[in-house]
Amino acid sequence: MCGIFGYVGDRDEAPQLVLAGLKKLEYRGYDSWGIAARQASSAPARLLVDKHTGKIGQATTTLPAARAALGHTRWATHGGVTEANAHPHVDCQGRLAIIHNGIIENHAELRRELVALGHTFASQTDTEVVCHLLEEELTREADAEDAANSDPCHRLAQVLMSVFRRLDGLSAIGVLDPQLDCIAAAKNGSPLVLGWGNGGNFLASDSSALLDHTRRLTFLEDGQAALITRDSLTVYDVISGDPIAKPRVWDITWEQEVDSLDGYPHYMAKEIAEQPPVLRRLAAERAEAAQRLADSILAASTVHLVGCGSASNAARCGEYLFSRVASRQANCVVGSEFGYLADFLDERSLVVGLSQSGETIDLLDSMKSAQRRGAKLSALVNVEGSSLYRLVDDPILLSAGPERCVLATKSFTAKLGVLVMAAYAARGRLEAGRALLEQAADEIQSLLSDGRVEQIRALARRIADAEHLYVIGRGPSYPMALEAALKIKEVSYMHAEGFAGGELKHGVIALIDSGTPCIVLAPNDETFRAILSGAEEIKARGGRIIGISPFASDVWDEHIPVADVGEAASIVNAVPAQVLAYELALARGLDPDKPRNLAKSVTVK
Ligand code: F6R
Repeated sequence: MCGIFGYVGDRDEAPQLVLAGLKKLEYRGYDSWGIAARQASSAPARLLVDKHTGKIGQATTTLPAARAALGHTRWATHGGVTEANAHPHVDCQGRLAIIHNGIIENHAELRRELVALGHTFASQTDTEVVCHLLEEELTREADAEDAANSDPCHRLAQVLMSVFRRLDGLSAIGVLDPQLDCIAAAKNGSPLVLGWGNGGNFLASDSSALLDHTRRLTFLEDGQAALITRDSLTVYDVISGDPIAKPRVWDITWEQEVDSLDGYPHYMAKEIAEQPPVLRRLAAERAEAAQRLADSILAASTVHLVGCGSASNAARCGEYLFSRVASRQANCVVGSEFGYLADFLDERSLVVGLSQSGETIDLLDSMKSAQRRGAKLSALVNVEGSSLYRLVDDPILLSAGPERCVLATKSFTAKLGVLVMAAYAARGRLEAGRALLEQAADEIQSLLSDGRVEQIRALARRIADAEHLYVIGRGPSYPMALEAALKIKEVSYMHAEGFAGGELKHGVIALIDSGTPCIVLAPNDETFRAILSGAEEIKARGGRIIGISPFASDVWDEHIPVADVGEAASIVNAVPAQVLAYELALARGLDPDKPRNLAKSVTVK
């Protein structure tokens, strides 16, 4: 959550570079944004701040030429969406600009302390305490004897580290001092990446924003700080304050992000359409990795599939797949809950983290606590170099390409693709798993190119005003029902709920009213007859039944036919749900790529 981008170097257009970087990071938060720049032409150098509420979109900045700038795109945690709460924030003298991603848990105590010392606060954010703490420290430092002799940029980094040590919670912080040609940064929890450029260096929340400028990156680890100047990047240990000799520099070879809509009206439509090639690539390139995952699963005493949101739905699909295909128990747990359920983990346990971004804090926290208990870690992750990717020894890269829409689509089906292959591999039938992936890819391609998209569009227009929408599935289709409902609610803001078909009679059926749309997932498996009975019961109470199934039935008011692809059914069934969610958003006049209140990378608790 929140995007950070900074630059110090030779180029006069630092504010424009930062704005372009923020546009790439906007998926991390888009309720307001701002940039601070060191004005090159004034002496002494002045700090200029340009802040706005709303999405960046096609915005330009009024900031004049500058060679150092620091910007932020916000997902509000403390304080409403106002210009005053937008970052960067400044100290009382307007000397330092601070941006922050994360939460400062002890901000209230710190604020009280600073107010008592005479500081004036201009925002309701937790972040602003950092401005005033830095101001205090710098004033104190200025009086210290050795301060005059030390390099002022290095001193800024030291002062930031001493302030950072006082903060509770998980944060990434950047500070620009316009008197100095440098940015200092520190992180714990939230991601920060340094970019080694030519004639200038960079700071960003993730690598994708840097690849236009450099492929030489250093990923800051938790408890590290950095100093970014025109000619150098220095990494420090926050606790000791000492520089770290030779921080690791990654030479990034992965494909440059294709950051264009390629003629699609939205990234969501583009990313839905990209699923067949993603699945084919996984079948071709990740079979060995899936076999290695299967071997680790077979060797473990207990297996835990952990993820958040859509990734937890993928994990639950995995739970069914391993049980059905490989007769193996693999427990699905939501990332934010795993820590409360992990007392029994030991060195024979295997924890598999599932994540598109590889930065979801609830997942990372539980993986790290499992690691401390000796558990082995594995991961299915889409972003190379992300925190999750770096945390585990043998991560499986989903290679789904950048997912710009806030909703997970191709990364969700890619996770299922790897899980299908791994489940078959655990049974000694990897080739059968690969073949299913290819069949699923073919079926999705047909679905997206024949009349079914048009059919779903017309359906979306008919049900766009419904108050509630329900999705039911049994067995392996139960997690898919949860995922379909999640997709619909997050992008259309309709109330949508997914249920296990068998739960209907235990209370859920009270929700069904005349005309309530109910999606029924009915693949060709042992759940078919029972889910059809559930559909009959809903219909008898006035529900409008939308069947996603290879089979026709009288109970369907609307039938979206899908091919029978066996244990890969959830991969195929995900797609009509994604298309319906997308079309519902359009029918309701909403932006499918940036739904309200959400952010792509959830790096705060
Ligand atoms: C739903 C969605 C979210 C994410 C969740 C985990 O469409 O995108 O529920 O799936 O925030 O994110 P990652 O996979 O990045 O860990």
